[in-house]
Amino acid sequence: MKGVAFDLDGVITDTAKFHFEAWSKLALEKFDLELPAEFESQLKGISRIESLERILAFGKLSGKYTPAQVAELADEKNTYYVAAISKLTQADILPGISQLLADLKAQQVKLSLASASKNAPMILEKLGLLTYFDAIVDPSKLKAGKPAPDIFIEAAKAVGLAPSECVGLEDASAGVAAIKAAGMVAVAIGDKEELAQADTVVSSTADLNYDLLVTSYQQAQGK
Ligand code: BG6
Ligand code: MG
Repeated sequence: MKGVAFDLDGVITDTAKFHFEAWSKLALEKFDLELPAEFESQLKGISRIESLERILAFGKLSGKYTPAQVAELADEKNTYYVAAISKLTQADILPGISQLLADLKAQQVKLSLASASKNAPMILEKLGLLTYFDAIVDPSKLKAGKPAPDIFIEAAKAVGLAPSECVGLEDASAGVAAIKAAGMVAVAIGDKEELAQADTVVSSTADLNYDLLVTSYQQAQGK
């Protein structure tokens, strides 16, 4: 295992609730639409515009807005979201993650960030974790978002590695699908059934550590 590609939201910090709250506010204000709680997990790992398209489809509003209006609505959601995350600090790093990053660095494992979020560099900075990462993939430069493999292929390439030399960490099923399609070993955090495609699933980030990643990598590569 020479590299680890991290998802951000739900792996390093728990921003899913802020994304969902921002979408819920927009949907209620603009479309008089209440988003059911199940929507929160459906939007995990999905880009800003694609999330909006899913919400519009749910409200039977697909095609009702021009591309410029759609972009404006997405911007508005981002304004709500950025306000909500403005107070993030080191205290918002999920359990086990700071230690894991430090241990991986000490073992000279290359670290890259494979997040669909355009806010990722700003969030890492607020968490005080920016300097751990050797590369941050810019999601706006990719042809296709998760579950397509592009972001994880790029995360390996950006640190000079092949995907087969890396472990990908994800909390979303779309993200696990992207890791596997890229040819990486997938370690997932969350529900075992939802994330069954992963090579290893743990229920909390507190269960992650250097040895677990190495063991998962070795077992998966030996399969
Ligand atoms: C992902 C989140 O990390 O980033 C998604 O899981 C979100 O819910 C996506 O839509 C895009 O984020 P942003 O910050 O660019 O709107
Ligand atoms: Mg995530």
